[in-house]
Amino acid sequence: MNFPENFLWGGAVAANQLEGAYNEDGKGLSIQDVLPHGLKGPRTAIPTENNLKLEGIDFYHRYKDDIRMFAEMGFKIFRTSIAWSRIFPHGDEEEPNEKGLQFYDDLFDTCRRYGIEPMVTISHYETPLYLAEKYHGWTNRKLIDFYLRYAETIFTRYKDKVKYWLTFNEINSILESPFMSGGIPASREDLSESDLYQAIHHELVASALATKLGHEINPEFQIGCMVLAMPIYPLTPDPSDVICSMEQNHLNEMFLAVHARGEYPGYAKRYFHDHKIYIHMDEDDEQALRNTVDFISFSYYVSVCATADPKKNKRGEGNLLGGVPNPYLKSSEWGWQIDPQGLRYVLNDFWDKYQKPLFIVENGLGAADELVELPDGTRTVYDDYRIDYMREHLKQVGEAIADGVPVMGYTAWGCIDLVSASTAEMRKRYGFIYVDRNNDGSGTLERYRKKSFYWYQHVIETNGQEL
Ligand code: BG6
Repeated sequence: MNFPENFLWGGAVAANQLEGAYNEDGKGLSIQDVLPHGLKGPRTAIPTENNLKLEGIDFYHRYKDDIRMFAEMGFKIFRTSIAWSRIFPHGDEEEPNEKGLQFYDDLFDTCRRYGIEPMVTISHYETPLYLAEKYHGWTNRKLIDFYLRYAETIFTRYKDKVKYWLTFNEINSILESPFMSGGIPASREDLSESDLYQAIHHELVASALATKLGHEINPEFQIGCMVLAMPIYPLTPDPSDVICSMEQNHLNEMFLAVHARGEYPGYAKRYFHDHKIYIHMDEDDEQALRNTVDFISFSYYVSVCATADPKKNKRGEGNLLGGVPNPYLKSSEWGWQIDPQGLRYVLNDFWDKYQKPLFIVENGLGAADELVELPDGTRTVYDDYRIDYMREHLKQVGEAIADGVPVMGYTAWGCIDLVSASTAEMRKRYGFIYVDRNNDGSGTLERYRKKSFYWYQHVIETNGQEL
């Protein structure tokens, strides 16, 4: 496998899924603090004890030891998010919370001390709750200003510590999860398409303006968009299925097209027209959108199918955005269909269309692990299934590189076990490092190296030559 010499190997997490300390050092509440069941809902009025994210894996107090373990694996990059409500507890304040800023200063300094480049997601499913409740989340244009104030604060503060930035995590997931993704306190069914696309428009403008602002603050910044990549294959070669899959792909790819080309593509305008979607745009918005990203990043877990035949159009469980199951693929314990070749396909497809360097910032297998005790008293997990999953995906990354696709790096999702986003549980684990915490909240929070820890260490050591 020919991974480029400067390939950025690492891992990825999000603040709300591992930091804990949900109300320490001046942090305000985020939407996650009232989502004890993840996407399955319902939300609660106030934080409740059954919400595992309130304590997470206590990364807030243990990050130094955790980063040391990442360094032991050889990480070149570590992707995390900044919890917006640590910096602006309500989201609409004029002045940031100094203690929140200090936490991330220390976190990024620790990474740098080990030669690990931090990569920061500015907004990862953790909009301040106040912005959701008082302003109705991203449906309100005011969110653009609040987001930009927050972005300016962190760009300025960390301009010499952080080079890689992502504006919104899985920005297209708002199509299915308006509250988690867009801080909109309404279910998808209760939201008109105009409201939804208005919110999307605000996020796209905010993303483009943040990209502009970031480049002004430090021209060396590399700022990317981040989408949930999920190829939608036609279920059959019936041309109607092919067109159906094309149209469904368009809904997701519109986000990439705007970020990479700086304008809404024709198919989006047609969709708005056909669906009577009216979006209010300010005079300067078109100009704002022209600030395109430096690179495209994405998560990749599943592929799905689409069909025009209503009888066959039965949705599977797959990821945050669903789809018709592919009869050729196996699924994970959580029903996510596993398709390593889809990753090569996505990399080629995005490169062909957008000609921007690509970064795989999430990929991995959520599985229930068994912690076993060795004769010498140490504990581990024999997670060969996770190793197999990643090996097969990395082989396909190698194939895409051989196809000529510029791939900047790969950050494995949940490199240390954390609380799942969709189901808000601990049992669904992704890590190379096991964290002793259970769904009922019990556990010592001790960390243990899994078999995959040593495997990934070797992959990085050999720069992907030995998978
Ligand atoms: C992505 C999110 O959707 O998938 C992460 O960006 C999330 O936040 C990851 O954790 C895996 O999903 P889950 O539901 O298994 O945690």
